[in-house]
Amino acid sequence: MLLFACQETPKQQDDFSSQTPAEQGASLYSMHCAQCHGEDGKLGASGAKDLSASKLSDQQVIHLIKKGKGAMPSMKALLETDQNINLVLSHIKGLRR
Ligand code: HEC
Repeated sequence: MLLFACQETPKQQDDFSSQTPAEQGASLYSMHCAQCHGEDGKLGASGAKDLSASKLSDQQVIHLIKKGKGAMPSMKALLETDQNINLVLSHIKGLRR
């Protein structure tokens, strides 16, 4: 009984890894970016740029996510891996018009 309990993985982790890459990108965005940029990228809280109007290249976005810019803090520690950064990048490109 005790052994069984130890083998249980935390539920949140389970949910995340069972999502598709697109869903993972959306979850990461909701968790770490939406409070400033809004779910549709247009919120603009604390001076955040409208992501639907962004014309930055992939490299520029990755650089900005890692280093931060102005009022936007570096998101590197929160996103943890390059893979997660790429998932978020795909998601925000989907918000562009
Ligand atoms: C604390 C608020 C805040 C959070 C959280 C935040 N941002 Fe930002 N973001 C900003 C601000 C402010 C700017 C404008 C920076 C500047 O140009 O001075 C910005 C700019 C950007 C830009 C540049 C848009 C352009 O065309 O110039 C991108 C891309 C971006 N953010 C993506 C993200 C992503 C992806 C996340 C989540 C991983 C995120 N941001 C989280 C505040 C935030």
